[in-house]
Amino acid sequence: MDHERHFERRAGLPSLVDWTPPTVRPSAKLSQGARLVLLARPVWAYRVELAGVLVLWLVLGVLAARLGLDAAGLLVSVTVGGLLAIPRVREWVARLLARARVRRAWELAVRHAGLVNFNDRIPRLVGHQLTMSGDRLLVQVPKGKTVSEVEREAERLAACLHVPEVRVLRSPADASVAVVQVVRRDPLAEPLPWPWSHLDAGRLSLWQPVPVGLDDDGRLVTVGVPERNVLIGGEPGGGKSVANSMLVATAALDPRVRLLLLDGALVELACWRGCADRFVGPSPKDALEVLEGLRVELDERQQRLLALGHRKVEPGDGLPLITVVVDELAFYLHTGDRSMDRDITAALRDVLMRGRKTGIQVIAATQKPSGQVIPTELRDQFSIRWAFRCTTPDASDTVLGRGWASQGYSASAIDLEQRGVSLLLAEGALPRRLRTFYLTDADLLALADRAIRLRAVEASPSDAPSSDSAISQPEGFPPAADRPPYPTPDPERG
Ligand SMILES: Nc1ncnc2c1ncn2[C@@H]1O[C@H](COP(=O)(O)OP(=O)(O)O)[C@@H](O)[C@H]1O
Ligand SMILES: [Mg+2]
Repeated sequence: MDHERHFERRAGLPSLVDWTPPTVRPSAKLSQGARLVLLARPVWAYRVELAGVLVLWLVLGVLAARLGLDAAGLLVSVTVGGLLAIPRVREWVARLLARARVRRAWELAVRHAGLVNFNDRIPRLVGHQLTMSGDRLLVQVPKGKTVSEVEREAERLAACLHVPEVRVLRSPADASVAVVQVVRRDPLAEPLPWPWSHLDAGRLSLWQPVPVGLDDDGRLVTVGVPERNVLIGGEPGGGKSVANSMLVATAALDPRVRLLLLDGALVELACWRGCADRFVGPSPKDALEVLEGLRVELDERQQRLLALGHRKVEPGDGLPLITVVVDELAFYLHTGDRSMDRDITAALRDVLMRGRKTGIQVIAATQKPSGQVIPTELRDQFSIRWAFRCTTPDASDTVLGRGWASQGYSASAIDLEQRGVSLLLAEGALPRRLRTFYLTDADLLALADRAIRLRAVEASPSDAPSSDSAISQPEGFPPAADRPPYPTPDPERG
């Protein structure tokens, strides 16, 4: 009531001359307590800096009483200077001040965004970490507020903080805790300055996670291939083949892994030819033959697992992993011959479905994995989805799965120039944005050459290292050199 009267007085009643009212804000009479809060709040916001100054002042005061002001001043300056010369102390102070600065900006931003609760409490900063893209904040929302309310105000918060983006995620463990990313710069804007971390590896194991790039926070992103099928999708030139080649290189440098390469583009996988059991160029007939061969292998492996009493292939089983790599998958599913398309789709679906547990994994790259190009029944069998730049959010969803674009994970937002930037949906619940390591043609040739030599050494019985190849070769799996070309369908088995 009182406010309303004030409002009328301050704003003025409409008159013949339409003056802009000096202010339309009702003036409230502040209580003593409120006045104190208004004064104390900014002082409290600078508590870290003020405490530092206070401590210095006290020390200076005490010393000055004994040594005189000049000597005390000199002693304090030298001590402070000496302490700051120690990198760890300097870092600690810098982090403390950075956190205080971020906290002040955050507290102001949430007040302006209207995220204050009934008791004048705000979402409070309880943790701060500097990341490659800016700051990661751990925020505790006050009673009566939810993380989704903070999320809804992300745009307003970003504007208040003068940053390009603020991302809010609810902590899975506690509904009152939000993980807030204050994005200040895009750490993936430039190609990674580091080569692939396994570029110089002499030997690798496909059972180990494959490092593929760095994410927004500079953390290494890895892909675990066994028991998974990998679908890589995106526009031409996005970086699919480069990503693919890190997985292929790992498989090639693991001499126990049997590689089957299907390359619709003929040139992308050609350098790995020497490591592969079978290399198929743009020939649907040969591709079908390989896939049918795999189905026979699948039957055998299932029998073997049954005999071993295992439900899936484990590293010590003696069943080598078989990696099927397909570049330009769409090529093999749209050959112009309907019955061929049907046969390839059926065989591939079988390999995708039954292969996972039996140690056969498929890594496929394709441009547009939409329903018309890759049947959904096939697409659903890929548990690792890796999206490179797409033209539309819909196209991005066809790679990652329905609905991700509307939640802010769209590969259509990737800049045309940022080749190798991608969204990977693998381990966590959310897609991870990363930039892949870059492998030049020379790198690929060097890796392939090393893999071929390694496989040759492993295959020759005289100098085969026994320590590293702990996995025994089961019957029916002769070493690579003696191994016949990849099995073609056995006519007797049908
Ligand atoms: N991580 C990366 N960093 C920098 N450049 C990259 C990266 N990945 C790919 N590129 C560039 O993009 C080009 C196209 O990559 P490629 O893997 O052949 O694309 P796609 O298979 O999707 O058509 C490469 O020749 C390379 O110049
Ligand atoms: Mg390609």
